[in-house]
Amino acid sequence: MQTEMVQLIRRFGGDPLSAPSMQEVPLENNAEAFSFAEKLLAGKIDLIIFLTGVGARYLINAVSSRFDREKVLEALRRTTILVRGPKPAFYLKEIGVPPTIQVPEPNTWREILEVLDLGSRGIELKGRAVAVQEYGTENSALIQGLSERGANVMRVPIYRWELPKDIHPLLHGILQIAERKAAVAFFTNAVQIRHCLAAAERSGLVDRFRESLQKDVIVASIGPTTTEALEECGIPVDFEPSHSKMGQLVKETAEHFEELIEKKQMKEFNASVQTSPNKSRAADSAERREKTRQSLFLKACRREKTVRTPVWFMRQAGRYMKEYRDVRSRYSFLEMCKNPDLVTEVTVTAVEKIQADAAIIFSDILVIVEAMGLGLSYESGDGPSIEGELKTAEDVSRLKEVEVETSLGFVLEGIKRTRAALRAEIPLIGFAGAPFTLASYMIEGGGSKAFLKTKQLMHSHPEAWHELMGKISRGLVKFLNAQIDHGADALQVFDSWVGCLSPADYREYVLPHSRSVLQGIRKEIPLIHFGTGTAAFLDLMREAGGDVIGVDFRVELDNAWKTVGYDRAIQGNLDPAVLCSSKEVIRKQVQKIIRQAQGRPGHIFNVGHGILPSTPVENVIACIEYVRELSSHS
Ligand code: CP3
Repeated sequence: MQTEMVQLIRRFGGDPLSAPSMQEVPLENNAEAFSFAEKLLAGKIDLIIFLTGVGARYLINAVSSRFDREKVLEALRRTTILVRGPKPAFYLKEIGVPPTIQVPEPNTWREILEVLDLGSRGIELKGRAVAVQEYGTENSALIQGLSERGANVMRVPIYRWELPKDIHPLLHGILQIAERKAAVAFFTNAVQIRHCLAAAERSGLVDRFRESLQKDVIVASIGPTTTEALEECGIPVDFEPSHSKMGQLVKETAEHFEELIEKKQMKEFNASVQTSPNKSRAADSAERREKTRQSLFLKACRREKTVRTPVWFMRQAGRYMKEYRDVRSRYSFLEMCKNPDLVTEVTVTAVEKIQADAAIIFSDILVIVEAMGLGLSYESGDGPSIEGELKTAEDVSRLKEVEVETSLGFVLEGIKRTRAALRAEIPLIGFAGAPFTLASYMIEGGGSKAFLKTKQLMHSHPEAWHELMGKISRGLVKFLNAQIDHGADALQVFDSWVGCLSPADYREYVLPHSRSVLQGIRKEIPLIHFGTGTAAFLDLMREAGGDVIGVDFRVELDNAWKTVGYDRAIQGNLDPAVLCSSKEVIRKQVQKIIRQAQGRPGHIFNVGHGILPSTPVENVIACIEYVRELSSHS
């Protein structure tokens, strides 16, 4: 059926991904079938229930391999036969055994029992021998119903199903669902869901797979038996077609698609309101997420058309802003970073004050350095300082692997609270430093101009270098994925100082690690890859990854975008020093950058590096207004 299903999905505009979830394994030992036949021939069976066409055919053929086929058919004609649906009925008529009773649609075990219960026209089951032909799975509800009515039930299993030998294609499909990359999951029989869950269980994906089907991916079931199996497994069914046919299933799901998506989101919304009085969870509904998804900033990240260019600024919550300085006068910078309520306050205040189109969580790229066991302080007044610099391979091997929940929980909690406090239209950007920039701080013990120690370790002790970069990268993947889990709507990776390298060194010493981070982040939300001084290797940054490439002001935006390629979005690139000049100068520079983007979807306006502390806040506000005015396409 696989080919047919794939063709159907394609015909109705879908992009099919099909993976076998089951293989048929004939029972080597047909003991039950033969003992059934013996009883049948001896006239000891009062009622036979045929559940499926294929199963009925296999049973008769198996039995006929040992007993005389004509005698078997004669015995069948003498016995009361109930068929569940049109398929076994069709087969039995074909071999000249017309069924006594055919159960009406939707032909589940309930209809079977109802028909049998129909008073005088029904069939008295007490003390009767009832054989149930099973195919694939045991129908325990039916067996129980029959036993409760006093029948002596004989199960005749014909086939059983197993997971396919090679389950990799199935796991790939399960992962697509777990990562919400699939919009719809079609189920065409009752076995598939159990097999999917079993395979997901084996690979540790089961919770994400289940949650995805419960909350996001539309679950379409071919008919009542499949629906029942799904529901028994705790998977709610969103759609069932008017007839249990594959064509109908795909066609009708396609027709109702928009409506189904909306319903699913409302269901989730209502469920979260009902099950959790906690305001933040209720606020983080599917409805909110969809609103955020449709924000200018996230649309531009996906290179979708927007009515104007979205704008936000790196370091938009910082010392240039009075509100920030007020809080900062009461707390040290690290105290602020580690207090989720202050993080929320500072992040939200900044975005609202300047009316930016996105918020960036208030934190610092260096908090992860502490999580790896080095001391961190910002007390000296000339930038951050890191204690326990790395000089040797032993220093590197002593570094701790990052444990996100225990040592960076304050960032995650800050993200959760900030997301709950922000308006739905404002996406929240999570972030981290890139491996090179973080390694440079750890090796230099702070900021640097020449990065001499960093380059010495890199060139002279490449093994220690790669071990360090690998350790940082592993921590970053965990940290950034956890930020997604806690509500980040996009992520930015800052490689602020990587521009000090030659393209060849970038390729050899940095790219593999940046790539492992950028590719290790789940693809659910857009990823911004930012660097400064990277004009000479923008192509390599692109190669490392990122849906959006962030560039500084040392390149022209049009040239940079051409190099990066128009299949990526671009972010940048006003010189932050311009914000310290007059409004006329600012307007002109904004105009230039907007023109360079040529109205192409996928430009996010930003500064080419963080806002400087001496910037007048009204210039920042004016700049954002100019971006709005000059980029409006109306
Ligand atoms: O508004 C935002 O952009 C979010 C918060 C944010 C900060 N740092 C707050 C901060 C972000 C995204 C960063 C990233 C960061 N931190 C980078 C990458 C971006 C870039 O500018 O290249 C780097 C290299 C750092 C490291 C760092 N942290 C430095 C060099 C400094 C000192 C320099 C300075 O501006 O004071 C910090 C401290 C820091 N990080 C402050 C803020 C608001 C100032 C702290 C204070 O109030 O004293």
